[in-house]
Amino acid sequence: MNDAPTRVLVTGAAGRIGRATLELLAEQGVAAHALDQRDPGDLPADLVVEGDACDPRAVREALAGVDAVIHLAAIATPLDDPPETVFSVNTRSTYTVLELAGAAGIRRVSIASSIAMYGISFAAKPVSPAYVPIDEDLPRQAEDPYALSKQVDELTATMMARRYGMGVVALRLPFVGGAAGRLSKYAEEFAREPEQGASSLWAYLETRDAARAFVLGLSVPGPGMRAVLVAAPNTMVPQQTEDLLRRFHPGAEVRRPLPGRAAPVDTSAAARLLGFRPGYLLL
Ligand SMILES: NC(=O)c1ccc[n+]([C@@H]2O[C@H](COP(=O)([O-])OP(=O)(O)OC[C@H]3O[C@@H](n4cnc5c(N)ncnc54)[C@H](O)[C@@H]3O)[C@@H](O)[C@H]2O)c1
Repeated sequence: MNDAPTRVLVTGAAGRIGRATLELLAEQGVAAHALDQRDPGDLPADLVVEGDACDPRAVREALAGVDAVIHLAAIATPLDDPPETVFSVNTRSTYTVLELAGAAGIRRVSIASSIAMYGISFAAKPVSPAYVPIDEDLPRQAEDPYALSKQVDELTATMMARRYGMGVVALRLPFVGGAAGRLSKYAEEFAREPEQGASSLWAYLETRDAARAFVLGLSVPGPGMRAVLVAAPNTMVPQQTEDLLRRFHPGAEVRRPLPGRAAPVDTSAAARLLGFRPGYLLL
């Protein structure tokens, strides 16, 4: 069960993390299939299925011959679509992809969860974590459909792990972006106006590191579902983390020192499980 996958389906392959994941798999010499509702025409994959990850026919076609799945397809924010659409697309696509993968005998899966699942990122009024650094056990305070959809996705994965003896790693991602694009843009904005970054705890992960974590998730041996937080060790802003927390999350219990720009995210579980340490850091 611990041998490396030979052919991986990436869903949401045309998105920012999906494309980086396909590029990494190609670099590693691992064959890939891609599924996305829009085919941009240049995805580095042996098979590109343009279709809906909620549609069993499209998913079956994309799964043919693969031995592992990286499931990223989702509406990645609750801000642009009706709430019932965000919830239903995200949870239905995850159910469909994992059900058909399990039935096809696939036992290695990585799925995209989010730091937003705790409910802090997209709350209408500011919400603080109970404590920092946040970890996998942080109490959930979801009041938006995206957070709930990611909680349900993790439950779906837990059920599928039991149902099929599948190994699933769910990565709770922070803000993800490319160092030369979205990430630097937000880093500049949050540095000027740190209150804008408070709901994301100023945490980030560079897109290529996110791709690497998803691929590493496929090498975790044995059945079961594991959800882990991943993030760069530093924040994306120049301010001192403890000062930011005092200003914007005064109710959060600070459980250990967070010197300098230390991210208020405990990533030790991901380091243990995946051997994952981010390499692309904003200095
Ligand atoms: N980027 C972030 O900051 C971030 C943070 C936390 C979690 N995530 C999660 O990581 C995953 C990937 O995010 P991303 O940043 O690459 O997002 P993205 O929006 O760049 O890409 C998502 C891709 O999924 C596709 N897609 C959406 N619904 C689909 C469906 N029903 N069927 C087929 N394809 C569908 C879209 O066409 C798009 O290409 C998502 O699950 C997202 O929720 C992202």
